[in-house]
Amino acid sequence: MSVLGRGSVFVAAFAAVLGVGLMAEAQQRPPADIIAARQQAMKTLGAEMKGIGDAAKAGSITKEDASARASKINEIANQMVSWFPAGTGPESGVKTAALPAIWEKPADYKAAIDRFAGESAKLVAAANTGNAATIAAAQGEVGKSCGGCHQIARQRN
Ligand code: HEC
Repeated sequence: MSVLGRGSVFVAAFAAVLGVGLMAEAQQRPPADIIAARQQAMKTLGAEMKGIGDAAKAGSITKEDASARASKINEIANQMVSWFPAGTGPESGVKTAALPAIWEKPADYKAAIDRFAGESAKLVAAANTGNAATIAAAQGEVGKSCGGCHQIARQRN
């Protein structure tokens, strides 16, 4: 077996162990905890987005403030993929606005996360320029990616 072949087998075995570990961890946490945590994180996203949006309207965007908020948004975006394990939808009996589409159309849902993660990375880059117009435009694109996912995945009240 080539060195590359052995490496691939090792990586596959490692990924399998890791996958089982993550699943076990997700199953140990009660759905109510997982749902509360993701709702809280969504509220944080809302607050950080509003912080940048309000500063844009007031003409008071600063590089420091925008960078801190953008980093937080990006950090959350990169965690989102683990927030919706099976059993944390409406069938859990816990109050949640998560729609069954998340589990029924996982590819669409994953695409929405990827779009959001991509736009939030662009927002980090925009914030680092310190240019108010660039930051405001990037914030707008992130907002559209939030809305894109909400359209397919979030129950409207
Ligand atoms: C990939 C999908 C997805 C993306 C991207 C996304 N959301 Fe959400 N959002 C949801 C889902 C699903 C819920 C419902 C969660 C629940 O109730 O379990 C939600 C709920 C919320 C809530 C309500 C939280 C509560 O229960 O009080 C807010 C606020 C929110 N999102 C803001 C945002 C903002 C702002 C962004 C972008 C910066 C964003 N979301 C990006 C899927 C997404």
